[in-house]
Amino acid sequence: MSISKNKKTIITTSARATQRLGERLACTLAPGDIVCLVGELGAGKTCLVKGLARGLGVKGYVNSPTFKLINEYQGKLPVFHFDLYRLEDGRQVSELGYEEYLFGRGVTLIEWAEKIIPLLPRQYLKINLKRIDEHTRKIELRDWRAKKK
Ligand SMILES: Nc1ncnc2c1ncn2[C@@H]1O[C@H](COP(=O)(O)OP(=O)(O)OP(=O)(O)O)[C@@H](O)[C@H]1O
Ligand SMILES: [Mg+2]
Repeated sequence: MSISKNKKTIITTSARATQRLGERLACTLAPGDIVCLVGELGAGKTCLVKGLARGLGVKGYVNSPTFKLINEYQGKLPVFHFDLYRLEDGRQVSELGYEEYLFGRGVTLIEWAEKIIPLLPRQYLKINLKRIDEHTRKIELRDWRAKKK
């Protein structure tokens, strides 16, 4: 991941632009990387995931998992897409055996990642998305967390 230690802020003015941002970011990701997407309903997390997945070489339709917590895709490398919106208790992720994804050789993209912060490995990229108005989103890329807690 070549994003520096600094926080980067990007404004997009369309869903398409957010997807393109994801596509561009994808080339900085390597096996084992984790991307946490944080932001309210409709902020654009899934939109960014679609771009990231496409940039990682996933062909076909990408959407949030509905009845389960995770979708798996195969691009240039495995892509695991979690949507934890419906997760009631972070411990479920361990109980269901999902932790192995976080330490695997794919790229893991996690919507509503704030629900499982204590389970996350030491390093990950955090992306905050904020709705400014109907078509405008503020997207902040934060550096890897250096230490647990
Ligand atoms: N600049 C923008 N970037 C991303 N999405 C945008 C933008 N402008 C408008 N939109 C619209 O906002 C919505 C974002 O939906 P999306 O499903 O990506 O949000 P989400 O954060 O995943 O929400 P949820 O928490 O419900 O899963 C889409 O309908 C999209 O078309
Ligand atoms: Mg979503």
